[in-house]
Amino acid sequence: MNPGLEPDELLTIGEMSRRTGVAASALRYYEDLGLVGSVRTGGNQRRYPRHMLRRVSLISVAKRLGMPLADVREAFGEVPMESTPSHTDWQRASRRWKKKLEERRRAIERLEHELTGCIGCGCLSLKACALLNPDDALAATGAGPRRLEDVVEDEESAGDEP
Ligand code: FES
Repeated sequence: MNPGLEPDELLTIGEMSRRTGVAASALRYYEDLGLVGSVRTGGNQRRYPRHMLRRVSLISVAKRLGMPLADVREAFGEVPMESTPSHTDWQRASRRWKKKLEERRRAIERLEHELTGCIGCGCLSLKACALLNPDDALAATGAGPRRLEDVVEDEESAGDEP
C-alpha cells in the first residue's frame, strides 16, 4: 500500500461504487483502461484514494455525453493518479476536456446537417449518401451489395449461438 496515504483516505470498491453510482465491475474496467487507479492492501484488495471520486464522476458525465473512454483518457492527460491532483492539474484537464467536447459538438453538427438533408432526400444511395457510406468507405470492401452481405453474415453467425 502507498505509504503516503492514510487508511481513512482510502475507499473500498463498495464505498466507491455507492458514492459514485458506478458498478464495481465498471470501476475494475476503468482501472484496466488506466482511467482510475487503486492501491492494494496486504490481502490484495483494491483501495481507492478519495481523489479518484472526481475521476469516476467525470467519467460518468463523459459517458452521458457520449464521449468515448479513449477521449476521456486523453482529456485526463497528465492529471496524476499517485497523488491528489492540484488545482492547476485539473485546470489543464479542463482545457483538454473542453477541446474534446468542441470536437464532438462539431462532429454532431456535421451529422445533424447531413441527416437533415437525408431526411428530405430519402434516396438511401450508398454511392451518394454521406451518412450511409461516409467517404464511400464501402467501395474499398469490394463490389456488390456490401451491406446486404454484412447482414447475411451477421444472421448466419447469430444462428451459430447456442
Ligand atoms: S438519403 Fe439521399 S443523400 Fe442520404
